[in-house]
Amino acid sequence: MSSESGAGNNQRLQGKVAIVTGGASGIGESVARLFADHGARMVVIVDVQDDLGNKVAESIGIQRCTFVHCDVTDENQVKTTVKSTVQKFGQLDVMFSNAGIPSSSQQTVLDLDLSEFDRLFAINVRGMALCVKHAARAMVEGRVRGSIVCTASVAAKNGGKAYTDYVMSKHAGLGLVRSASMQLGAYGIRVNSVSPNGLATPLACKGLGLDAAEVEKLFEPFACLKGVALKTGHVADAVLFLASDESEFVTGADLAVDGGFVSA
Ligand SMILES: NC(=O)c1ccc[n+]([C@@H]2O[C@H](COP(=O)([O-])OP(=O)(O)OC[C@H]3O[C@@H](n4cnc5c(N)ncnc54)[C@H](O)[C@@H]3O)[C@@H](O)[C@H]2O)c1
Repeated sequence: MSSESGAGNNQRLQGKVAIVTGGASGIGESVARLFADHGARMVVIVDVQDDLGNKVAESIGIQRCTFVHCDVTDENQVKTTVKSTVQKFGQLDVMFSNAGIPSSSQQTVLDLDLSEFDRLFAINVRGMALCVKHAARAMVEGRVRGSIVCTASVAAKNGGKAYTDYVMSKHAGLGLVRSASMQLGAYGIRVNSVSPNGLATPLACKGLGLDAAEVEKLFEPFACLKGVALKTGHVADAVLFLASDESEFVTGADLAVDGGFVSA
């Protein structure tokens, strides 16, 4: 790998237009900041948290970043967001489909609440499928050899003692990535995912009812790598790799950012 395309290059997304769903908070916010730092021409933050999303976009700078209210469960909203991005900024190079929610309760099989299940699937699965669908259509129409990155999880490859709906939704995300990568390769479009271990974001803190330090302590035994706690920046670095030309021949892959996940 030449140093121009690798870690020595701090402009790995120069001139690219990217959409980051769930970009108002947590992993998405870190990714939006890193994409802008790496020269993205425009980062479109998509979220339902308007105040937070606008604040993040403003702090990155309105020349580089903008916020769009879009509920990823709504096909019209996703379609319009992708369309207006292409109209305003010329093309779509990168879709980071990351918006997600945690289980609302333990959700073991024995007491699975199906209305909560449906709500979670609408965001974590349907929303992800819609973002991949409309990004891919825009890339095919614009003849862009784009990159689509989805946020999966260690929960995409392991069963859980609880949170069944969440675990199922993340498994579904991997199925989408694997199928879409096979279908879109002919167009030069790459589709990959990142799978983080548990980390302290508003989603994890809210889902577990713990503060950030408690979340880090809880997940520490799940990594064989010791002496470092997983932060959103670690996940953002992996997403940047998959979004940029540095991963030009990587598709259908799931990049674990889990410190070597072990069941505790
Ligand atoms: N935090 C963890 O432990 C962890 C581990 C593995 C994977 N993940 C995944 O990472 C992704 C990001 O989560 P996070 O931990 O950064 O949480 P977060 O709560 O900080 O961010 C998620 C964002 O998604 C947005 N969102 C929710 N519903 C939406 C909708 N319908 N339309 C648009 N935006 C919506 C939220 O408003 C929020 O800003 C999720 O897919 C999550 O499942 C998180």
